[in-house]
Amino acid sequence: MTKDRNPEIKRRISLLESHVGFKLETILKHALKTRDSYTLEHSERVVLLAEQIGHHMGLDEQQMDILSLAAGFHDIGKIGIADDILLKPGKLSGDEYNDIKQHPKIGANMLRSLGNPVLDEVALCVLHHHEQWNGNGYPDGLQGEEIPTICRIIAVVDAYDAMTTTRSYRSEIEIRKALEIIKQESGKQFCPEAVQALLELCSKQRLNSKICS
Ligand SMILES: [Fe+2]
Repeated sequence: MTKDRNPEIKRRISLLESHVGFKLETILKHALKTRDSYTLEHSERVVLLAEQIGHHMGLDEQQMDILSLAAGFHDIGKIGIADDILLKPGKLSGDEYNDIKQHPKIGANMLRSLGNPVLDEVALCVLHHHEQWNGNGYPDGLQGEEIPTICRIIAVVDAYDAMTTTRSYRSEIEIRKALEIIKQESGKQFCPEAVQALLELCSKQRLNSKICS
């Protein structure tokens, strides 16, 4: 993406917002809330923290716009997962986990189907938000810098938020413990630069106090 495309992307986002964006976001969020209110609340927290990390890592305005949209829609594909799996209170079986792993593709296809160039870029980030730095993620097993920066940020924030909020099948763990786990996974599951940004923001107390206190 070149710098001179920025005004065009901004124009398209503004066009999207003025014509279909508000309704689109409302409809998608309502659908997600109806299916799984946790995922909507989680996505909203991921947007706030991902934006802070993106800013700290020096993403440009265009990347920040895509990051915000992708963070908000990263789990939108869970709309397409069956209730007995999506809302299962216990641990998932291997087959059920394989079904859940379809959500990045489902979400990306939903966004791509809208035929908007901005949402195509967002869709790519949604598709790859479960890739891992060491190549052990899904759906494509991308490694290191093959994974778009935006996806690497969302992956770290996604894990951090999941670890620090209460789920039906376990309690939230201490923030310090969550940061320790993420630090241990730097260069393995997570991008070292994104982990470093999260740790620096926490150590400087620059994160939202609700997110990192
Ligand atoms: Fe996800």
